[in-house]
Amino acid sequence: MAIKIIMDTDPGIDDAAALTMALNDPALDLKLITTVAGNVTVDKTTKNAQKLVRFFNKDVPVAAGAEQPLIKEFEDAARIHGESGMPGYDFPEDLKAPLNKTAVEALHDEIMASDEKITLVPTGSYTNIALLFSEYPEVKNHIDRIVAMGGTLGKGNMTSAAEFNVFTDPDAAKIVYQSGVPIVMVGLDITMKALLTPDSLSKLEHMNETGKMLHDIIINDGDNNENGIAMHDVNTIFYLLHPEAITTKDMWIDVITDGPAIGETVGDIRGAYHDGKTNASVCVDIDDEAFNKWFLEEVEKIKQG
Ligand code: BDR
Ligand code: CA
Repeated sequence: MAIKIIMDTDPGIDDAAALTMALNDPALDLKLITTVAGNVTVDKTTKNAQKLVRFFNKDVPVAAGAEQPLIKEFEDAARIHGESGMPGYDFPEDLKAPLNKTAVEALHDEIMASDEKITLVPTGSYTNIALLFSEYPEVKNHIDRIVAMGGTLGKGNMTSAAEFNVFTDPDAAKIVYQSGVPIVMVGLDITMKALLTPDSLSKLEHMNETGKMLHDIIINDGDNNENGIAMHDVNTIFYLLHPEAITTKDMWIDVITDGPAIGETVGDIRGAYHDGKTNASVCVDIDDEAFNKWFLEEVEKIKQG
């Protein structure tokens, strides 16, 4: 049976690729998309999510979420993802309106109405989820797990210590890691290894309209270079569908919320600080060839575009 998921996202080029897989893979049942400020402002991330839903002619609701982090000042990543967040392709503009309720309300309603536990897949900062847990703690028992892009055991991509999603709202990340809900940390430790190769990228261009759309936006990613391009957020979907291709290690993750290491995810790898207790399953290795192969196969199967 398909895994019921909700994507909480900030498209964003790699978010767009993750949504492409989530909207189309029959092994996933995407119930709702909620948006958050991150790569660009939330009005733009919401519009980008609506554009993808329209592009694939899907009937998945979109609800707009937090305009800014809980405490920290908002800083976007338009230098990497472009001013629109999804540059390089002309999407249809006749978009279905977002829901007439906030992301937090939509998350609450969808999670509580579901007959099975939902898997949350955040690929932006975790502001909406932190607000949800603070306002409606009862939802926690109705969530199977959180498979979250963000964090790193090694070096950061925003500061030396911090990955972008956790850096954007470290206070929200701390609430989520302390929530007691099982969490899989899909961080830079694997996403910087599983680069989409230049060869894979060029194959996308002539595959079908979805491949062309992804190719045209991915080549605009400010991090694209001759070694390939990290498709960070797509690793969450790959993990859900192919956990056998990813190695995880259980440990305790603490999130630093101030000072020079703000946004750092400190993994208690030796179990020394938390007496062997764990709050996360951390992705530590990935089969990058399997990732590339799967990425191309997924796109090839998509009819609409
Ligand atoms: C994360 O930061 C964002 O820019 C990407 O969309 C991804 O979610 C990678 O650090
Ligand atoms: Ca993202």
